[in-house]
Amino acid sequence: MRCFLLWAFALFATQHADATPSRIVCYFSNWAIYRPGVGKYAIEDIPVDLCTHIVYSFIGIEDKTWGVLVIDPELDVEKNGFKNFTAIKKTHPNIKLQVAVGGWAEGGEKYSAMVADKSRRDHFIAAIVDFMNRYGFDGFDLDWEYPGAADRGGSFSDKDRFFYFVEELRRAFDGEGKGWEITMAVPIAKFRLNEGYHVPELCELLDAIHVMSYDLRGNWAGFADSHSPLYKRPHDQWAYETLNVNDGLQLWVDYGCSPKKLIVGIPFYGRSFTLSNSNNNYNPGTYINKEAGGGDPGPYTNATGFLAYYEICTEVNNKDAGWTKKWDEAGKVPYAYKGNQWVGYEDPESVQIKMDWIKSKGYGGAMTWAIDMDDFHGLCGPKNALIEILAANMKSYNVPEPTHATTPRPEWARPPSTPSADGSKPVKTTPRPGQWDPNAKPSTQPKPTTTTTTTRKPTTETPDSSEVVYPQLPTSHSPEMSPTLKPTTTTTASYKPEIPEDNDVAYPENNADCKGDFMPHEDCAKYYRCVHGKPMVFECKPGTAYHTVTNVCDWPANADRERCRH
Ligand SMILES: *[C@@H]1O[C@H](CO)[C@@H](O)[C@H](O)[C@H]1NC(C)=O
Ligand SMILES: *[C@@H]1O[C@H](CO)[C@@H](O)[C@H](O)[C@H]1NC(C)=O
Repeated sequence: MRCFLLWAFALFATQHADATPSRIVCYFSNWAIYRPGVGKYAIEDIPVDLCTHIVYSFIGIEDKTWGVLVIDPELDVEKNGFKNFTAIKKTHPNIKLQVAVGGWAEGGEKYSAMVADKSRRDHFIAAIVDFMNRYGFDGFDLDWEYPGAADRGGSFSDKDRFFYFVEELRRAFDGEGKGWEITMAVPIAKFRLNEGYHVPELCELLDAIHVMSYDLRGNWAGFADSHSPLYKRPHDQWAYETLNVNDGLQLWVDYGCSPKKLIVGIPFYGRSFTLSNSNNNYNPGTYINKEAGGGDPGPYTNATGFLAYYEICTEVNNKDAGWTKKWDEAGKVPYAYKGNQWVGYEDPESVQIKMDWIKSKGYGGAMTWAIDMDDFHGLCGPKNALIEILAANMKSYNVPEPTHATTPRPEWARPPSTPSADGSKPVKTTPRPGQWDPNAKPSTQPKPTTTTTTTRKPTTETPDSSEVVYPQLPTSHSPEMSPTLKPTTTTTASYKPEIPEDNDVAYPENNADCKGDFMPHEDCAKYYRCVHGKPMVFECKPGTAYHTVTNVCDWPANADRERCRH
C-alpha cells in the first residue's frame, strides 16, 4: 500500500509544473444572420476577445460520397461565411477557430453509417482534412448526437466504431502537423454515455470535451422547469435526481475523464412552456399544456419553447411588461412567468455561480451555446453581459492538475483490442504526453494480459422515440432525452457466456504473488489488481460486477459467475 501511495504522489507531483489556461468556448450559429431586426447576428458581431475558441456551426456529412456536406452553400461559401470566419485569425492570431460537424438537425443515421465502414471513415477523414486546409480552420468539433442512440438512427456497434473514427481522425490530424485540435460536444444522461462513449479513452484522445449541460428539461418532459439547474432540487425525482449540471459533470469524471478536459456548457437561452389552462401554480415542475409544444415563440428566434437571453431579459427586467421573476434556490437558476407563459433560463447571477463552481471543481473552462443569443446589443444591460462574465472569470483562472485519480479500475467497457470485423487496426490508446491517465501504472509493471474480445451485448435501455417530442430546430444544440420516457424494459442480452462454476475461479491466497495483472475477488463487486507484484483490492463502479474472463466490471446481467448476476 505504501508503495502505491508513494507512486501516486510522485505521478501527480511531477505534473504540477505548468498551468493550463482555461477555455472559453463560444459556439456560433451561422443561421443567426437570418434573424430579423436586432436579432440579426453576423460574424462581425462575435466578441472575439472574450473567447479562446469559436466554433462555427454546423457542417454535415454527405452520405453518398462520404464527403463534407456544406449545409448552407450560399451563406457558407458564396457569401464567404467560412472564409470571413477564419479571417478572424489575422487580427487575433491566438484564437482557435473550429468547425462543428453534426448538431441536432443532422440526425444520427448518416453518422452511424459512416463509422460502420473503414473506407467510409477514410473518405470522410480525408474530406475533413481537405476542408480544414481549404478554409483555414484549426480545430474540429464532433457533434454527432448521439453515437449508439437507437432513437436517432444509431446502432449498438456505434460505440466502438465512433472510437475508431476518433482515433483515425486524431492520427490524420497529427500527421498534418498543424496543431489542429479535436473536441466533441457530449450529453450528460447516463444512458447516453453507456450507449455511445468510451469515456476514458475518448478523453485521452481529445483536446477538450464540451459538455452540453443544458436542455436537461423541456416541453418534451411534460412539466415546466429550468433546463440547466446546477444541483438537484427537492422536486427532482427518479432519473431527474441526477440530471443537473453538477451531477452530469461528475458522471463524466466518475467514468474516467480528467476534470481538466471537461468544459462546462452554459446556455445563453431559456426553455419556455405554456402552462395548462387555469393553472396558477408557478413552481418549477408545474403542469403544462404539452400540446402547445412550449412557450410562445420569441420575436427574433421565432421558435416555440425557446427564447434567446436577450428576448427574455428585455421582457422580465421591464417592470411594465408584467412578468414575475423568481429564483430557484436549490438549482441556482432564475425563472419567470406571466399569464400562462413560464421560462427557465440563465442570468448574470446564475452564470457567476456556475463560474465559481467550475473553478472550485477544477474543470477546464466554460462553453456557451450560443454566442449569438447573448444580449449583444445591450438591450437590457451591458453589452454581451453573459459572455463578459465567462471571460472575466476564466481569464484569471488556470486549470489545476487533478489532485486525485478516480478509483483505479480495470478498463471499463474498453473497445475490443482485436481488429474489428471490417479489418480496421486494433485500437490502442496511449495517453499523450502530460495527459492525465487514471489507469497509470508504474512502468515496471507487467502489461495487462489482453482481454478477451467476445462481442458482449450489454443490456441497453432503448428510449422509445415514438413517445418523445423534440423541439423544432435549428434553435439549439441538442435537447436531452426525457429520462422518464425510457421504457423500463431492457433488451435481453443475447450473449450467453460459458459460465464457469464458482469453484473453478482461482482466488488469490493471502499475501500470494500475482498471477497476471487482474485476479477475481470473492466479492462480486471487487477484484485484485497487481501493484508491485502484490494483489491489491479494487472496487467496481457501483451497480457492476467483475467478470473473471474479460477482466472488466460489467453489468451484473453479463457476469460470468452465476451468483454475481444480481
Ligand atoms: C463576408 O465579408 C464580406 C466583406 O465584408 C461581406 O460582404 C459578406 O457579407 C460576409 N459574409 C458573411 C456570410 O458574413
Ligand atoms: C416564424 O415561423 C413561422 C413558422 O415556423 C413562419 O410561418 C413565420 O413566417 C416566421 N416568422 C418570422 C418573423 O420569421
